[in-house]
Amino acid sequence: MSLRATTGLLLALGAVLTAALAFEPRLRSVAFWQQLASPGELSAAHADLAADCAACHVPMQGSIAARCIVCHANDERLLQSQPTAFHATVSSCRECHPEHRGSGQLVSTMDHSALVAIGLKELMRSADPEQRQFADAIAALGGGGASARRLALAVGEAALHCAACHATVDPHLGLFGSECSDCHGTKAWAVTEYRHPAARSRDCAQCHQAPPSHYMMHFEMISAKVARKPHARVEQCYECHRITSWNDIPGIGRYKHH
Ligand code: HEC
Ligand code: HEC
Ligand code: HEC
Ligand code: HEC
Ligand code: HEC
Ligand code: HEC
Ligand code: HEC
Repeated sequence: MSLRATTGLLLALGAVLTAALAFEPRLRSVAFWQQLASPGELSAAHADLAADCAACHVPMQGSIAARCIVCHANDERLLQSQPTAFHATVSSCRECHPEHRGSGQLVSTMDHSALVAIGLKELMRSADPEQRQFADAIAALGGGGASARRLALAVGEAALHCAACHATVDPHLGLFGSECSDCHGTKAWAVTEYRHPAARSRDCAQCHQAPPSHYMMHFEMISAKVARKPHARVEQCYECHRITSWNDIPGIGRYKHH
């Protein structure tokens, strides 16, 4: 199975673990948790739970996620938004939502490698031998110490299907394909070494898709008139646009849409 095809599965797996645990009063034993010191103050969002350790912890079991899900399973905004829809199946929470760091801590951080690590763990537990083999192969890269582990995660990260979560912010409107990681990292979209082609370029349409209105009556009746280029064809972006901003029409400046 190819790296990319298999990692598509990373996200699909884990539904089993995310099934909310039934509420068990027996386990919400205050005494058990009072024996443990809290490692630190909770985040402001969870301050109300400071005296209820068992809201998030199940004595003797590591599974924090099941507790989180009891309260957060139905966050519509989260599940319906493309980049965060993975919350429907992800099986662990603490990597991106750490706790006990005080009231000023960030509640959410996006850790793409954690996402890969969680997916790999799922694959290793999978019933499908081929999937387990794949997971072992990636994990083996991490066998030789910290930097090799980082390499394993970097390999996994590169195999994430970026467009599945980020197509909505693609400013290239699909013209550059869906392999975002060919050009982008996971920390910031900016590509610091990138230099835009010069303003005298005539290849604008190779890298830019015009808005739908340019393929309608609007183009002849408004756009071409505003730009005073009645004969320019849509592909000739350079006739009417500059490279500074799409809304910086030569001789007009910022065009105000009524
Ligand atoms: C809102 C959920 C929440 C509540 C309430 C909560 N914790 Fe935690 N706790 C967590 C999370 C999440 C972690 C993992 C933190 C991390 O990895 O940064 C954690 C980690 C810990 C750890 C370290 C061991 C481990 O599993 O990583 C201890 C010990 C702990 N909590 C004790 C407590 C005690 C005692 C209380 C009650 C005073 C408490 N917690 C209340 C969410 C919670
Ligand atoms: C007993 C219910 C309960 C549990 C258990 C719980 N939460 Fe929460 N959580 C809340 C409430 C209530 C808020 C505040 C929501 C708000 O202000 O709209 C909150 C806020 C949050 C926020 C920030 C959302 C915001 O609006 O700022 C995140 C992220 C979050 N929880 C994740 C987790 C994770 C991860 C766990 C498990 C470690 C967890 N929660 C456990 C009830 C819970
Ligand atoms: C790989 C990282 C990652 C994992 C794992 C993860 N989350 Fe999140 N989560 C995020 C990010 C990033 C956001 C903020 C998204 C945004 O603001 O658009 C978020 C947002 C949330 C919010 C809404 C916070 C808000 O501001 O409204 C809740 C609730 C939440 N996560 C709960 C969970 C629970 C429960 C789990 C475990 C089942 C979990 N998350 C696992 C990355 C993660
Ligand atoms: C399972 C969903 C998912 C996948 C797959 C994914 N991301 Fe993300 N990514 C997120 C979430 C959630 C955030 C934080 C919230 C946001 O910015 O939308 C984020 C944030 C980012 C950011 C930071 C954005 C900013 O402005 O701070 C970059 C850059 C990024 N991702 C790039 C990538 C790349 C490149 C890939 C492929 C290697 C990728 N992501 C794969 C969900 C995903
Ligand atoms: C062939 C290389 C290439 C591919 C593939 C590619 N991009 Fe880009 N992208 C760029 C370059 C170059 C820039 C300009 C970066 C800059 O100015 O720092 C850019 C800019 C961006 C920006 C705006 C950054 C900013 O600072 O405003 C976002 C968001 C973005 N790309 C998302 C994506 C997404 C999502 C995908 C995949 C669906 C993708 N890109 C695929 C090369 C690429
Ligand atoms: C080789 C590819 C390429 C060519 C050719 C190209 N561009 Fe770009 N252009 C990009 C990338 C990548 C970005 C950054 C991502 C984005 O905003 O679309 C960008 C950004 C822009 C922006 C947005 C600036 C902003 O921040 O709002 C404008 C306007 C623009 N280009 C106009 C042009 C024009 C006009 C031409 C022709 C004279 C042209 N481009 C030729 C790749 C190209
Ligand atoms: C004949 C002149 C002309 C040509 C050719 C042209 N445009 Fe435009 N375009 C305009 C004018 C005028 C506007 C602003 C008014 C409007 O929306 O009609 C505009 C608006 C836009 C906007 C929306 C700006 C905003 O912020 O709403 C984008 C994006 C854009 N053009 C991209 C392109 C691209 C890409 C091409 C080439 C493939 C192109 N245009 C070709 C005249 C032109």
